[in-house]
Amino acid sequence: MPAHGHVMALDQGTTSTRAILYRTPELVPVAVAQREIAQHFPASGWVEHEPEDLWNSSVAVLREAIAGAGLSAADIAGIGIANQRETTLVWHRHTGRPIHRALVWQDRRTADACAALRRAGHAPRVAAATGLLIDPYFSATKIAWMLDHVPGARDAAERGELAFGTVDSFLLWRLTEGRVHATDATNAARTLLFDIHAGRWDAELCALFRVPPSLLPDVRDCAAMFGSTAVLGGRTPVLGIAGDQQAATLGQACFRPGMVKSTYGTGCFALLNTGETPVASRHRLLTTIAYQLKDRRTYALEGAIFVAGAAVQWLRDGLGLIGTAADSGELAARSDPDARLYLVPAFVGLGVPYWDAEARGAIYGLTRASGPADFARAALECVGYQTRDLLSAMRADLRGSEASGEDAVLRVDGGMVASDWTMQFLADILGAPVDRPVQQETTALGAAYLAGLQAGLCPEPEGFARSWQLQKRFLPQMAEADREAAYAGWRRAVRRTLTETA
Ligand code: G3P
Repeated sequence: MPAHGHVMALDQGTTSTRAILYRTPELVPVAVAQREIAQHFPASGWVEHEPEDLWNSSVAVLREAIAGAGLSAADIAGIGIANQRETTLVWHRHTGRPIHRALVWQDRRTADACAALRRAGHAPRVAAATGLLIDPYFSATKIAWMLDHVPGARDAAERGELAFGTVDSFLLWRLTEGRVHATDATNAARTLLFDIHAGRWDAELCALFRVPPSLLPDVRDCAAMFGSTAVLGGRTPVLGIAGDQQAATLGQACFRPGMVKSTYGTGCFALLNTGETPVASRHRLLTTIAYQLKDRRTYALEGAIFVAGAAVQWLRDGLGLIGTAADSGELAARSDPDARLYLVPAFVGLGVPYWDAEARGAIYGLTRASGPADFARAALECVGYQTRDLLSAMRADLRGSEASGEDAVLRVDGGMVASDWTMQFLADILGAPVDRPVQQETTALGAAYLAGLQAGLCPEPEGFARSWQLQKRFLPQMAEADREAAYAGWRRAVRRTLTETA
């Protein structure tokens, strides 16, 4: 075995930054460190992160994890980065100083700009090249907003003085002391500027979204040489990058067409592997790159919902109904089984398949008897209903194809899957099995795998897939008629919540 037996995953997510150190080749976690990220909400629907928080927390957790394991830089073969996707940063190339706080993927401030582009008829061209819809979720209109609102920024961009990056790219720039301005194909695929078929930036789309191409990073494979960093002491190479949902797809070993995973973090993101052929959705799903290895792209259909764990956070922080997120399942289990409260968690609009940036949250079915337990149940159940929305859209898109996912078992991960109650409801409402793996930190695992693969310390995908282990399978127990009645109620609740802009 080579001298370096460890790889480090850096998972910069929406609510926290985490580093996990793994021993290779089996990728056993040996140390973990985590820091929360402050959320800034300067106006309704606006969400920002302080770039220095993203950077400082990353350096802190990397150092803490390595110290926690009693290792030094010489023991680390490489770093793999997984990141919250779409979140947009623009910085000065000479100083590394951001021109504005990061605009987070949840930020809706460019909703009007997106609506104008859709009205002007650009959606088909954009979807054909990028696989995406024109929505504030993605980076392009966020970049343009910064260039238009920060004094002097557009001129500086035209002079080539500024750089754009998603969080991976910004961290890489800082890690390499400004030597490397790069990203990977999965992150590039979330900008609205990248042609996912040709695998390159699209000059016409740059013009449409008014983003000077000089801002854009170099795009590489997910497992590649991305430069090296001195933050751990010696020089440590960065050997992997993937958007966090794509990293989780790798961590869940969804390498075969038809395999599907769903991650329950702040939001919920389901990715279904469609193999080397991108599938254009007829049901308002996203077509995206699952991973790019050795210059070959594997595609996915993606369902993105913006609020999952965030609904539980709202129970805790907004309503004060629970002390910790872990209490929600227990409280929900105490609710009246005959009461049916529906929470439509459109706190920042609704994503797939509704795409309504203006919708806001609503609760239906309140009675004099409704209490905290019913609220908790509604918050957990809405995650199951939304997952069914996503998977139904995927099945409808793929009917008859080899990646149909008809018999697919859903592999789940993320903070919420620790709740047996929630996972049982998910299996019940889907009417299909739900598999929870032993290693539930699949995002970090996927990032570590990329670094291990590039370093030659981890096996090729088929070998890695054999190490995936089931912890528990949840089988549906709800009667068919009850399932369909409950789901029909959810659809009615959503219909009443949608605005006319959708
Ligand atoms: O597309 C946004 C997604 O990447 C955010 O994931 O886990 O940070 O909520 P997470």
